[in-house]
Amino acid sequence: MAERFDVKLIEKEKRYYPDPSYKENAWVKDYQKMYDEFIADPSAFWGKIAEELDWFSTWDRVMEWNYPYARWFLNAKLNITYNCLDRHAKNHRRNKAALIWRGENGEQRIYTYQQLYKAVMRCANGLKNLGVKKGDCVCIYMPLIPEQLIVMLACARIGAVHSVVFGGFGVSALNTRINDAQAKIVVTADIAMRRGKSIPLKSVVEDALINAPSVEKVVVLRRREPLVELQDMEIDYQEMIRDVPPECPPEVMDAEDTLFILYTSGSTGTPKGVVHTCGGYMVGTYYTTKNIFDLKENDVYWCTADPGWITGHSYILYGPLAAGATVFITELTPDFPDPGSWWKLIEDEGITVFYTAPTAIRMFMKMGESWPKKYNLGSLRILGSVGEPLNPEAFEWYYHVIGGGRCPIVDTWWQTETGMQMITTMIGEPMKPGFAGKPIPGVVADVITKDGKSVPPGKGGFLVIKEPWPAMLRTVYKNDERYRKYWYTLDNVYMAGDLAVKDAEGYIMILGRADDIIIVAGHNIGTAEVESALVSHKAVAEAAVIGKPDPVRGNIIKAFVILRVGFRAGEKLVSELQYHVRMMLGPIAVPSEIEFVDKLPKTRSGKIMRRVLKAKELGMDPGDISTLEE
Ligand code: PRX
Repeated sequence: MAERFDVKLIEKEKRYYPDPSYKENAWVKDYQKMYDEFIADPSAFWGKIAEELDWFSTWDRVMEWNYPYARWFLNAKLNITYNCLDRHAKNHRRNKAALIWRGENGEQRIYTYQQLYKAVMRCANGLKNLGVKKGDCVCIYMPLIPEQLIVMLACARIGAVHSVVFGGFGVSALNTRINDAQAKIVVTADIAMRRGKSIPLKSVVEDALINAPSVEKVVVLRRREPLVELQDMEIDYQEMIRDVPPECPPEVMDAEDTLFILYTSGSTGTPKGVVHTCGGYMVGTYYTTKNIFDLKENDVYWCTADPGWITGHSYILYGPLAAGATVFITELTPDFPDPGSWWKLIEDEGITVFYTAPTAIRMFMKMGESWPKKYNLGSLRILGSVGEPLNPEAFEWYYHVIGGGRCPIVDTWWQTETGMQMITTMIGEPMKPGFAGKPIPGVVADVITKDGKSVPPGKGGFLVIKEPWPAMLRTVYKNDERYRKYWYTLDNVYMAGDLAVKDAEGYIMILGRADDIIIVAGHNIGTAEVESALVSHKAVAEAAVIGKPDPVRGNIIKAFVILRVGFRAGEKLVSELQYHVRMMLGPIAVPSEIEFVDKLPKTRSGKIMRRVLKAKELGMDPGDISTLEE
């Protein structure tokens, strides 16, 4: 399959060189030298980085690799919040802004490190009063407000495992995640704000709890007057943190204790609970935040993701706070109240490092240069991209229009599973539009054939990681078989699930997924999850879902549906099915197109061949169809 993606790379290649001052002043001044140091002694390399952080007691060994299981910083004790809060609040960053939040109506909330530290300890004590103990799971289903991050940190403070569910997910997606993780507490808010409208969250939780016996209490942050009424098992957030002691000592965690579970779509109907642990994850996210964004003391850093995704966990919360950064967050969408809203925020807040997704960049391109041109973006120093390939056109626009031809772009490839950024072009190195770049020091990545051989330049293959890294997932919650599959699909390597090509200098271009996951506007959607949502509608007998390329969103979802007898195809049913998926899974999973068909292409063993549907839809060669039913 990979052969179909061979790319004529070399002659098209174009490169940009950042101003030499970037390299001179960067934390990493010589990529190759650092990479060589890493390869010469990986344990010494990671050990040295880990020493930049605070541990209650250090490790016996940096790493133990028992294929496919790794343990990092063996027997070391720590608490990640000590590194994100205490060590700044107790030192020179006490009064530095840790978090700046802006709401839709121009409201601003600022937490210094000291204030955030206090807020986290109160919340932690509040959770303790509700009976939350080390190892218990707390599900967080909240809007992008400071409390979302405070609750995450409060869980980490007391050793509770958080499972954050993106506030855009619907009832069934939330229910599945609560049940799989056996969450004891759910923390939510009455509403989220989106484009001037309030979106109910608490009512989604109420519906999701109809069949969720593990949940004992729901904490509700009430944002809107008059305050919404609370039910029996619900507690007001402010009430929870009212008469609690101001101090909460950090729970002593083993490096390999679980920090959080985060669900990501898989090729089967059920999402995978990716498990991350305390020590390695802290070291990996701290190291990458500091070095890839080249973060300096005076930077004002904005990552536009939602904490409901891994990007928010690693690069809004844990990495930047461990590095002592000023983190900006906002509930404002890029197009509200007008398409200049984000550029205005960059000007107002003096953002220096800006990390967003290609889908947002392409949306801005469509709206035209006049919007960013209205604002002074001169504070920007470094631009980042994540979530899907940054196509050369989007790269050029981002580089020239937003970065003023001045700012290096770090196109970072990584995954929920990797926990940390893995491939990019380090600051100061030549940038090639379309290519994410090379494996960072600390990571051994390659593009290989099915037989495990490195592909020659320009040939497509599977993107793999060849050595363990500290922030790697340790397992899939309650599904270790699935974890093993990452390492056993091809011998001795971690199979990322992406197709890629390499050029002669080792730069890697990511082409897209090799499996049944669709990346829609940077979000992973499993075809099987959408299909089962469709099939749960009374009119649907069978459904197959594919990703269809889209100039702004990367892909859109197209569904092919076979109806049950007695139901009539038509516009009305299309809307009804879309609404059904929206309610179950959330707006991000809604098929933009639905086509009613009589038959679906299947293998003789009855498996739907989505590849054939996709080829037909796009007018492409379907490849090998010898297993097709007829
Ligand atoms: O296909 C790759 C794509 O996003 C997938 C991981 O998705 P998720 O676990 O949701 O994490 C997204 C944020 C880290 C990858 O397998 N992807 C991520 N970053 C890039 C990318 N594709 C191309 N270029 C990237 N920079």
